[in-house]
Amino acid sequence: MKIAFCCTGTKPEPWLNGLRTALPGAEVEVWHAGAAPAEHAVVWAPPQQFFDEQPQLKGIFNIGAGVDALLKLRLPAGATVVRLDDAGMSVQMAEYVCHAVIRHFREFDAYEADILAGKWSYRKPRERAEFPVGVMGLGVLGERVAKALSQFEFPVMGWSRSAKTIAGVQCFAGATQLSDFLRASKVLVNLLPLTPDTRDILRLETLSQLQGGGYVINVARGAHLVDEDLIALLDSGHLAGATLDVFRDEPLPAEHPFWQQPKISITPHTSARTLRDESIAQIAGKIRALEAGQPMAGTVDLARGY
Ligand code: NAP
Ligand code: GLV
Repeated sequence: MKIAFCCTGTKPEPWLNGLRTALPGAEVEVWHAGAAPAEHAVVWAPPQQFFDEQPQLKGIFNIGAGVDALLKLRLPAGATVVRLDDAGMSVQMAEYVCHAVIRHFREFDAYEADILAGKWSYRKPRERAEFPVGVMGLGVLGERVAKALSQFEFPVMGWSRSAKTIAGVQCFAGATQLSDFLRASKVLVNLLPLTPDTRDILRLETLSQLQGGGYVINVARGAHLVDEDLIALLDSGHLAGATLDVFRDEPLPAEHPFWQQPKISITPHTSARTLRDESIAQIAGKIRALEAGQPMAGTVDLARGY
């Protein structure tokens, strides 16, 4: 079995070694133009030429959870597209989001500023009940995040396409319940996949439905958020702040206004990193399952876009 590795910006050797160990007998090589046909591909941001030259691929394994960039390419007809299904990401995402929510709720940023200024001062404790958190997307990552937040006793809401029941989380579903979900939320966490239905979903019309003094945490994709609308709502005071891990252009351009906005905390797309060993083990298992004709978690529905 041949496996082509085509991951832009990723050091290949540790992946090749790991995949060869996990799949004894498989030929795993970095793809180059004109390479021999492979059965499976392990990819991240591959060029269109890769798929044009490998129309026979049976399995395409994305080394990330989001497949929005991959689905912009013309893919081989009949190939099964598979994304990472947790592989160590959900605990990282839960850490990141809980940290951002708690930092805002407990005003740790203000305490840090006071301490830096040599000031020993107290703030009035806030009511947890006044900080309902809404999680958009209740998939592998969103469900884990919603459950983690509920452990800190915040009121937690969730919104997804299909209806869900999650202990400790008030679930809303579908476009018809979006307004009810937003109006019930003060802190909004975005963990939706980027699809034609969700692009620009964080915009004036939706964000202005959050409770006054709202807070936005975008950890999904930059194109979910209309940047100017966030800035307008921060300037008007309707929103108190935002934590952003993802941006329309990455790295965030030096001239982008987010850099200068003190109410926005920025991280460089690092909330849930691809962990190599976990990912290799998962991809190897999925390749074995695909070869055996067995169903597997993480198979992308191309029509749905995630
Ligand atoms: P997932 O398991 O596919 O979950 C997606 C969730 O979004 C599902 O609950 C789905 O609803 C819901 N959804 C999709 N379209 C919707 C719509 N139109 N309306 C309402 N809900 C909708 O994905 P995941 O593994 O949790 O990952 C989510 C996203 O996180 C990825 O696509 C990626 O963009 C992002 N991500 C970011 C980082 C980072 O480091 N910043 C790392 C990993 C992933 P159903 O359950 O009803 O299908
Ligand atoms: C990272 O953003 C991913 O989609 O895995």
